[in-house]
Amino acid sequence: QRHLISAADLTRDDAVLILDTAEEMARVADRPIKKLPTLRGRTVVNLFFEDSTRTRISFEAAEKRLSADVINFTAKGSSVSKGESLKDTAQTLEAMGVDAVVIRHGASGAPYRLATSGWIDAHVINAGDGTHQHPTQALLDAFTMRRRLVGRDAGLGQDLSGRHITLVGDVLHSRVARSNVDLLHTLGAEVTLVAPPTLLPVGVEAWPCEVSYDLDRTLPKSDAVMMLRVQRERMKAAFFPTEREYSRRYGLDGERMRRMPDHAIVMHPGPMVRGMEITAEVADSERCTVVEQVTNGVSIRMAVLYLLLGGNEPALTHAARTTE
Ligand code: CP
Repeated sequence: QRHLISAADLTRDDAVLILDTAEEMARVADRPIKKLPTLRGRTVVNLFFEDSTRTRISFEAAEKRLSADVINFTAKGSSVSKGESLKDTAQTLEAMGVDAVVIRHGASGAPYRLATSGWIDAHVINAGDGTHQHPTQALLDAFTMRRRLVGRDAGLGQDLSGRHITLVGDVLHSRVARSNVDLLHTLGAEVTLVAPPTLLPVGVEAWPCEVSYDLDRTLPKSDAVMMLRVQRERMKAAFFPTEREYSRRYGLDGERMRRMPDHAIVMHPGPMVRGMEITAEVADSERCTVVEQVTNGVSIRMAVLYLLLGGNEPALTHAARTTE
């Protein structure tokens, strides 16, 4: 079975194929009937052991737009709260016959374990594991950047070569940052991380990116600035930065945003903490793509499901045409 566990596993050609396929999938959303028959008769389980709004809902929307049968599982209210293991949960799903599992888990490595354990014979898609990876988030972010910085049609077949992308904030706990650094590097972009030293991981020097502690110097040369949430739930209390100090040095407000080039965009994976890493003025500005990223997430997840379960590019074009 093929899986999507880490953005680091994707080649440039894999990533560009997913972005191009997502552009085709986005056209389905523009139609009066937003459905393709591609995954009819296939069953996809959304297995969420951690909270989610965007990822869970957009995977479900993507699966339904591809006509899959969808089973939603959340740990809360399941036998996991009685102590059932991932292995026994997986074997229960296997007994019901599923074709793909979309998994979010608090433990880094849980999707890899599921994909390689033999507990279940299904495609595994990582929807976020601990502080490790969130590959479909990185793909939807790259899709959003390519559309905004290269163009919807002009971007087809293109990567992000020569673009400067800045990620700001709690890199230490961020699977979004890890996935984005991996994918953006593969796509040819220059990445800069801006964070307080206490919120950078050990070994960050080996990542394929620059590191800076000075947001004001980085903003004027950025084509996209992605703000990261401070993940207090993954921090020991002693490491909490004070909100005022953090916002003063690493928050994006209107004054700072105006130092960015005119074409540059502000991104955020969500959920946002307004007043901490981003002010309401910036979050609600036309330059902020946070809502667009959610829309693009459905197209990306359709593309990933389609490419893993459904077939190849010519068949996609065929499927798209036959339902027009
Ligand atoms: N960006 C993201 O993963 O959001 P959720 O936690 O709401 O899914």
